Amino acid sequence: MRILVTGGTGFIGSHTVVRLIENGIDVTVFDNLYNSKITVLDKIEKITGVRPDFRLCDMTDRDSLEIIFKEAHFDAVIHFAGYKAVGESVEKPLMYYDNNITGTLNLLELMEKYNVKNLIFSSSATVYGIPDKCPIEESAPLFCLNPYGRTKLMIEEILRDLCIADKDFSAVLLRYFNPVGCHPSGLIAENPNGIPNNLMPRIIQAAKGEIPELKVFGDDYDTRDGTCIRDYIHVVDLADGHVAAVDYVIKNKGSIAVNLGTGNGFTVLELIKTFERVNGVKVPYSIAPRREGDSMESFADTRLAKKVFGWETKLSVEDMCRDAWKGALSYE
Ligand code: UFG
Repeated sequence: MRILVTGGTGFIGSHTVVRLIENGIDVTVFDNLYNSKITVLDKIEKITGVRPDFRLCDMTDRDSLEIIFKEAHFDAVIHFAGYKAVGESVEKPLMYYDNNITGTLNLLELMEKYNVKNLIFSSSATVYGIPDKCPIEESAPLFCLNPYGRTKLMIEEILRDLCIADKDFSAVLLRYFNPVGCHPSGLIAENPNGIPNNLMPRIIQAAKGEIPELKVFGDDYDTRDGTCIRDYIHVVDLADGHVAAVDYVIKNKGSIAVNLGTGNGFTVLELIKTFERVNGVKVPYSIAPRREGDSMESFADTRLAKKVFGWETKLSVEDMCRDAWKGALSYE
């Protein structure tokens, strides 16, 4: 079996490539290296003993993309490629819509042309906007607060429409909660370009002394310690969720959206304290005003993933904190 992985040198993409190879699946990776480095391929090879076939390609360049489809047949595509910074998407919406939507349309047209009918799409719990209730079921109302989120939701809609029009098409829309951690070797890790906005990269910066302190956005929410609750999921568990989805996407037709989370919520302060305890480091922080657009609470209903993929997470929040720190210290 051969799978095409778009954005396969990125954070979640590279971890998924490792688990695909370890499951005996042949992989072709393409990436434009906008938010990742070519050296990731050396690291994947070091971990797995296999160097994946790599093509430097931008999905908005349809002609280059077509060459990849001409040269090999793929049993399925896992589609990670896309811009993902919320703030940047607000400032540069056209860049986001062009890259994420145009790029995906190119990919889907070529999949149709070359008779590749199975797609796993990297969606996000961001499509739930500010949820009315937790745990969040896949049937919850969908709406998005920024252009980045809207590109995820639009692509979900495009895939639902495509599956209605083409009865042979199969699309699995994976809605990730908050991916953190990295491969236990520390070799591949999250390496955000520019100033990171997400909690774990900021915790790491504060622990390293790269910023004077972490700002905790709000401690007056109606939660057990006043800070927001999220469903943090280890990226290796998330990668395994994709491997489980491969089997499903090949054996089924139509579209399905599935949450990938642990089902457990942790507050911002709980994550900071766990990080300090597990790694024996201090994370200086102070309480700051609430961040606009944040929901108080977000965690997954995980029953569907278990039912349809037979998948559930194995790694704890301690594992996430330990591996994230190891990756931050050893990442080159
Ligand atoms: N937080 C802080 N200080 C920081 C950064 C974050 O207190 O410096 C808090 C936030 O207020 C929030 C929690 O940490 O309560 C998690 O924030 P993240 O930015 O790490 O994650 P979000 O849940 O806000 O958003 C993430 C991704 C989005 C994705 C969404 C899906 O960043 O891309 O999950 O639900 F869409």
